[in-house]
This record gives sequence, C-alpha cells and structure tokens, in this order.
Amino acid sequence: TERTLVLVKPDGVARGLVGEVITRLERKGLRLVAAELRTLTREVAETHYAEHSERPFFADLVEFITGGPLVALVVEGPRAIEAFRALAGATDPVKAAPGTIRGDFALEVQNNIVHGSDSPESAAREVKLFFPDLG
Ligand code: GTP
Ligand code: MG
Repeated sequence: TERTLVLVKPDGVARGLVGEVITRLERKGLRLVAAELRTLTREVAETHYAEHSERPFFADLVEFITGGPLVALVVEGPRAIEAFRALAGATDPVKAAPGTIRGDFALEVQNNIVHGSDSPESAAREVKLFFPDLG
C-alpha cells in the first residue's frame, strides 16, 4: 500500500467540487487517511511547488494556490500515486481525457482542480509538508 497527497485546489473548492473529487477516489477504492480545509501561506506554497520556481508561471501559480481555501487529503491504497494521477488526467485539462477529473471539469492549465503527488519521493515530501504529525 502507498500514500499520496491530493489537493482539491482553490478553484475546485470554489466550484463546489470537493465532494465530487472525494467520491471519485473513494469509488476507485482509495481510502482517506487525512483531510483538512486550509488556506496555504506563501511559504508552504513555494515549498510545495519548489520544482517549478524557475518557471515563468511560478508567481501566478503561487498566487492561485494561496488565493483561497483548498482541501488537502492524504489518500492510501495500492499504487495510490499512479491511481490518483490516472483519475486526475493530464495537466492540461483540454488534453485530459473525458472521464478524468480535469477532463470533465476544467479548461485552463493553471485552474485544473486537483493536485496529486507524482512519485514516491514527492509523496513522502508533500505528506510531511502538509501533515507533519501524521503517523
Ligand atoms: P500538480 O499535480 O498540481 O503538480 O500538476 P501536474 O503534476 O499535473 O503538473 P505540474 O507539476 O507540471 O504543474 C504544477 C501545476 O502548475 C499545474 O497543475 C498547474 O496548476 C500549473 N501549471 C502547469 N503548467 C502551467 C502553465 O503553463 N501555466 C500556468 N499558469 N500554470 C501552469
Ligand atoms: Mg506536479
């Protein structure tokens, strides 16, 4: 079994898609281990997206992700990292397959509803960043 960090980003929360995202991952067989509504500080946002710090869209991305409450989830299951990335769909929602979260609910690359860790190393780092007390 494996754990991954999932975020329902501020656009997803604002659009009332928290239940939809949780329903889809639970229906898939993934299990919630932790869940919290919170607004990220700039510091946590910059740490979370550190790999993108040199990208031209970094300032916009930090602005977006700190711009309102998001829902942080720790999700567990067999190959949870890959399983959730498959549910989310491609980063660009226009390229994401219909039937995926991004494919069904988004049109813009920044405002793509969800985040999911992309590797075991990222998942470990991100779960610790968001839920330092999780056993
Ligand atoms: P995350 O799960 O959020 O990490 O998405 P991802 O792994 O599918 O994509 P990536 O890590 O490459 O990018 C992180 C996030 O930055 C994306 O989910 C988008 O919200 C945003 N992003 C990516 N590319 C662009 C871009 O070209 N322009 C803007 N404005 N935002 C982008
Ligand atoms: Mg990513």
